[in-house]
Amino acid sequence: MSLEPRQFLTKMEQRMLLTDEDKAILQSNADWGKEKASHMTDHFYAYLERDEEMANILHAGQGRMDRLRSTFIEWFHEMFTGMDNWGEEYAQRRWRIGLVHVKLGIGPQHVVPAMATVIHESEKIVKEEGKDVSVINPLSKICMIDLAFIEQAYVEVSSQAVQRETGWTESLFRRLIATGAGSMQ
Ligand code: HEM
Repeated sequence: MSLEPRQFLTKMEQRMLLTDEDKAILQSNADWGKEKASHMTDHFYAYLERDEEMANILHAGQGRMDRLRSTFIEWFHEMFTGMDNWGEEYAQRRWRIGLVHVKLGIGPQHVVPAMATVIHESEKIVKEEGKDVSVINPLSKICMIDLAFIEQAYVEVSSQAVQRETGWTESLFRRLIATGAGSMQ
């Protein structure tokens, strides 16, 4: 099981029904996204700080918060620009972001509510500013696609690590998961 980021992005765009019109709406709001990125970052990290486990991760490394601030600001702006119009560069960047979180032990239980916070806060700002609400749906879709990258990275890395360590084939691994899930019901 080896994920090819560009193919995965295309599949996720199809599944999320992210259209060319959605992309055009996002790009036409790129300046707004850039303007709001700093506020969004403050909001995001204030949210993470309220959870003891996540706050500990944030403060574990030297200079981590400063790096996070600048990378998160870039990330939020890229949601609107699509970097290379949601091409190879975008896909590779999202895959790498996924891997960074897997390495840090940040899993679905952390990332899903965190992404919900981004969507919720974006919607709140749009409404408070009396801005055209048409940006909300495309932004929610691309957030879900980015979330899928982080989640999928977790699955890919875990399964590959087990297969490498044990020498199990992918089909054996899948069968054991299915059996394990059955025995937990
Ligand atoms: C909406 C979900 C999230 C997004 C979009 C996001 C975004 C990012 C980005 C863009 C990076 C930089 C990756 C790189 O260096 O290439 C990063 C790194 C990181 N994120 Fe997240 N993140 C999310 C959720 C979380 C959560 C829930 C935590 C929990 C504490 C977290 C903690 C971290 C940490 C510790 C780093 C590494 C910082 C460093 O040492 O450079 N992130 N994140």
